[in-house]
Amino acid sequence: MRVKLASSYGFCFGVKRAIKIAENSPNSSTIGELIHNAKEIDRLKKNFNVKTLKDVSEIGKENRLIIRTHGIVLSDLKRLQNSNKEIIDATCPFVKKPQQIVDEFSKQGYDIVIFGDKEHPEVKSVKSYANGANVFVVLEVEELRDAKFGKKIAVVSQTTKKIENYKKIVNFLMDKSREVRVFNTICNATLQNQDATKNLAKDVDIMIIVGGKNSSNTKQLYLIAKKFCNDSYLIEDESELKLDWFKDKKNCGISAGASTPEWIIQSVVAVIKQI
Ligand code: F3S
Repeated sequence: MRVKLASSYGFCFGVKRAIKIAENSPNSSTIGELIHNAKEIDRLKKNFNVKTLKDVSEIGKENRLIIRTHGIVLSDLKRLQNSNKEIIDATCPFVKKPQQIVDEFSKQGYDIVIFGDKEHPEVKSVKSYANGANVFVVLEVEELRDAKFGKKIAVVSQTTKKIENYKKIVNFLMDKSREVRVFNTICNATLQNQDATKNLAKDVDIMIIVGGKNSSNTKQLYLIAKKFCNDSYLIEDESELKLDWFKDKKNCGISAGASTPEWIIQSVVAVIKQI
């Protein structure tokens, strides 16, 4: 099997940064999963005794707490800052950006629209900076049809969303208010991985996307791959590979989500090369 890796894949700047922070903070605990990758979280636990708490309600005797890449809600952050614990902030700077925009514009009387997934920790954290303003969290234009807006709207996107879908929301909002401030908060790392996946998927006869099944950007890569290469599969590691996927195939493309560690990707490459 000929194997080709996408020209851009895997760990992004924010995840590399968070892992480095965790490695430099042994015997600490992260609030929520540091990144969306169970295996890397296990490695941090084994090698650095960095534990994962479900949320702030689980904080007990822990003295060193790490805020994960997706951030936490503002009320939790304030509670921690007022405790006597050591707080280490691993929130990705690209996630801090929409937090700051929502904070600033909600204070100025803007209604806030967040293009993103309501249940995603990043979106929950961004939303929590709205200072009581009107906030709409949506994935589709349809969800905004009956919304009532004030005079000014500020719009941000979850960092891992697709720009095409964001533009649809923005277009719709242009008719709804005299002032619409749009911020492109989609992360470049995601776009680069998406473009590289698309280009590679066009050229191969099977695509393997490696990453956490609960990772939004990994799922996005899978959907893009599937659009250009029908035989696309999403796996968490090499143990999920199935031989019959590769029957009559010669060229396999590989890409990986922004929180997939290099050691997992290389194990997948090694197994596929043997086929
Ligand atoms: Fe940050 Fe972008 Fe990664 S938002 S965590 S650098 S995908």
